[in-house]
Amino acid sequence: RQLVVPRDPSLPPDVFHWIPIVGSAIEYGNDPLKFFFKCRDKYGDVFTFVLLGRKVTVALGAKGNNFILGGKSTAFSAEDAYTHLTTPVFGKDVVYDVPNEVFMEQKKFVKVGLSTENFRSYVGMIEDEVDEFMRNDPSFLIYQMNDINEWGRFDAATAMSEITILTASRTLQGKEVRSNLDKSFSELYNALDGGFTPLNFMFPNLPLDSYRRRDEAHKKMSEFYVNIIRKRKEGNNDHEHDMIAALRDQTYRNGRPLPDHEIAHIMIALLMAGQHTSSASGSWTLLHLAADPAVQEALYQEQVKNFRTPDGKLRSMTYEDIRDLPVLDSVIRETLRIHPPIHSIMRKVRSDVPVPTTLSAPSKDSTYVVPKGYFVLASPAVSQMDPRVWLNPGKWDPSRWSDPEGEAARAYDTYQDENGEKIDYGFGAVSKGTESPYQPFGAGRHRCIGEQFAYLQLGAVITTIIRRVELRLEADTFPANNYHLTLMSADYDHHAEEASQYLL
Ligand code: HEM
Repeated sequence: RQLVVPRDPSLPPDVFHWIPIVGSAIEYGNDPLKFFFKCRDKYGDVFTFVLLGRKVTVALGAKGNNFILGGKSTAFSAEDAYTHLTTPVFGKDVVYDVPNEVFMEQKKFVKVGLSTENFRSYVGMIEDEVDEFMRNDPSFLIYQMNDINEWGRFDAATAMSEITILTASRTLQGKEVRSNLDKSFSELYNALDGGFTPLNFMFPNLPLDSYRRRDEAHKKMSEFYVNIIRKRKEGNNDHEHDMIAALRDQTYRNGRPLPDHEIAHIMIALLMAGQHTSSASGSWTLLHLAADPAVQEALYQEQVKNFRTPDGKLRSMTYEDIRDLPVLDSVIRETLRIHPPIHSIMRKVRSDVPVPTTLSAPSKDSTYVVPKGYFVLASPAVSQMDPRVWLNPGKWDPSRWSDPEGEAARAYDTYQDENGEKIDYGFGAVSKGTESPYQPFGAGRHRCIGEQFAYLQLGAVITTIIRRVELRLEADTFPANNYHLTLMSADYDHHAEEASQYLL
């Protein structure tokens, strides 16, 4: 009598789990990186785990990133993986609710709105918003009282989440959104955001309150944007440098103009795509700066060196200035290495796909096959923390990006893959290709188009804060990742962040 069902050798190894259906969901949900590293030790770079009834094949490392993110859309589909989750939130006819070619056209439309010309006008607006926030928000009372040498206290996550929505709405989203940022807007936002939970991933529609709130919020939010678009058509508002202005002029290749409801839904998608990502990255940056006074001082001195005017003040930055600040750049880059806001990127498998032999295949002559109907998962977060690639991967050390001769850069340059093959990715130019261990913005056809905006927003926000106050961490230990708050992104521990302090 056979007690063990033999494994099909053509399938990637299955991760052992006790509870059917649930599978490894709890271990993965608690700490995906720990789970992936543990599985890698046991099964290699390619393995399959059960996530709430779904079979998910993970491919780790730079080659794994390349296999999934560089894969053909006929084999790996983002829309099949995400549409149930995103369409109720973003709305019909955009993003993953349309065939991929259509979404690719929509991404091109959005790129028009992310122009250098628009970015130039955004820097001053972002500085103003941060300034106004610090002058009015109760948590910056000591700053407002001009009480030099007194420590105040603010919650980095709360402050960054507000600053992110204030600055994104003042710039990309447009003045009507900015002037309507009241309690009811944030309630709508929160109800939509509540549509991104593991439950929504598993069951797109349930008769639950949170689902009803999500659907009502989507309807109201969509109407809100459609009204803005209509009002702009009536008035003469063509001078705006925002996304709605850019989208209004776009036409699909077949001559069809972009209808109002599609513009509205793209605006909702962008609002959601940029909020948690930038706000979490900004919070982590502030926390690391607070914990590392030397880097904080280097960042401040970079401002002084470049922007001090003869009367001793610091002048405003231009967009070109922001792009040419190596300390600032390395601070953001390093933060995104350790805390990429998106730790898991999924696709659904549309046809059986062989795993490349170079990626932990059983032997040289045979390969694993990921069967149709499975999900595949890439986690650049793992390769960004891989001790085989990075010297002291857990250490936040921006200088690893700014010193090409340094030890960290050398370790990176001599990176060998799991087969001992030496690969030279070219340190510093690592974020573009699909086969790279550093991909906080993803890679391939679904790569982020918000990267430049995020760098601009984070750069302007962080430097404006650092110009005004000095930060220290109050807690003895640095806050840990908390993966529970959102579905696929790493947030931070809400208790620990109360710890940032500032000093005038
Ligand atoms: C896609 C990260 C900010 C808009 C992505 C992806 C990642 C990512 C990893 C790939 C997802 C996938 O392959 O499934 C980030 C990070 C950000 C950020 C780390 C900030 C620090 C933004 C902002 C916007 C934005 C500010 C909008 C202005 C998009 C869009 C996509 C995308 C439209 C394309 C999705 C697709 O093609 O399927 N982002 N993002 N992101 N992001 Fe971002």
